[in-house]
Amino acid sequence: MQGNFIYHNPTKLYFGEASLDFLKDELKHFGERVLLNYGSGSVKRSGLYDQVVAILREGGKTIIENPGVMSNPTLEKLHEGVRIARENKVDWILALGGGSVCDYSKGVAASAFFDGDYWQHFWLDGNQPAAEQKVIPVGCILTMAGTGSEMNGGCVITDAEKNYKTGHVFDSRFMPRFSILNPRFTMTVPLDQMKAGIYDIMNHIFEQYFSGDDDNTSDYIAEGLMRGLIVASRAAVKNPQDYEARSNIMWTATWALNTLIKCGKRQDWMVHQIGHSIGAWTHAPHGYTLASVSMAYYRRAMQNGRHKFERFARNVWGVDSAEAGLEALKAWMEEIGLPLTISELGATESMIDDIVRTTNIFPAGYLDLTPEDIKQILTESL
Ligand code: NZQ
Ligand code: ZN
Repeated sequence: MQGNFIYHNPTKLYFGEASLDFLKDELKHFGERVLLNYGSGSVKRSGLYDQVVAILREGGKTIIENPGVMSNPTLEKLHEGVRIARENKVDWILALGGGSVCDYSKGVAASAFFDGDYWQHFWLDGNQPAAEQKVIPVGCILTMAGTGSEMNGGCVITDAEKNYKTGHVFDSRFMPRFSILNPRFTMTVPLDQMKAGIYDIMNHIFEQYFSGDDDNTSDYIAEGLMRGLIVASRAAVKNPQDYEARSNIMWTATWALNTLIKCGKRQDWMVHQIGHSIGAWTHAPHGYTLASVSMAYYRRAMQNGRHKFERFARNVWGVDSAEAGLEALKAWMEEIGLPLTISELGATESMIDDIVRTTNIFPAGYLDLTPEDIKQILTESL
């Protein structure tokens, strides 16, 4: 391990089929007025909404509702949540849904007590809330596995008017205080979203794994997570009601992006930046946007990071060359039915310049990309 780092993760997790039972006890730590954020209807259809509302009422909470948090939440919806939180003087926020609802809740929590243009200050300029800023605590009941939002500070928002999607990672004060993870709740997730979530998990691991030259404990943990995910994903695609597989996927998602496997590592995150931009133009599920450019991206990264791609081939896929490792990855993606081109998501050649223009560019794991490089990656992915 070459880097210096602080590891601090304050989120308490409740995992398993009985995990919702613990909500009652958690309520004692929070105030009376709760902002209940949820999505476009899945929690009502599954009956989870009724269960949660009953527990909140029994616990003496006053519920302020904010439904309609869309997948890939928009800036406009963020403004609405901030207004509701301010007007109702909420004590805490409960996110009931997938990564979008959880991300959004952190965004509202951080923005409600910020005096000024929070979008500019946090998302565009990358600042953290000041030490003295009041914090609205967030709890999460997760219904979809993928983002790791249940145990991190990430909050991705889309400015729909400008087709610009970008994330901010808030400091640990804004990470969920608790998250309830019941794999049963994920059983109703549509197949496409399940697959998108699976690739999102895999790509979070890649973004932290494909970088650096040192022998690093984080990489060994990452390899274990990848191997487990490959096994569980195959089982879940064959039988989406396989509890063992779905529970392993859910737990892997959390560890893939809960700040552990980045310790001591330089990171990449350029597939995510390109994916965000594709998402802002096509509205495709987040994980699919990542899958659609991955082969073109990693073939390029392999030229500079060959030693790591050889290790990936050997330790994750049991094959003996960097090229064979990428071929094994591609075969797995095809096997579980992931999109390998941006055209499958509705992107066209004429959209490429706009996608490039709205992509954030950072120094990456093994690549330093220019806009021209991104254009080539997108063109190869058509
Ligand atoms: O809105 P509802 O009706 O709830 O439907 C959702 C949504 O349509 C549905 N769904 C969720 N749980 C369900 C369900 N349907 C039936 N049964 C259930 N149990 O699935 C759809 C997708 O949900 P969403 O929350 O949007 O998916 P996901 O968890 O993939 O979250 C995506 C968002 O997270 C961001 C993405 O960019 C995107 O905005 N990310 C957040 C990260 C973080 N916090 O660190 C990192 C990721 O890289 C990602 O960028
Ligand atoms: Zn992601």
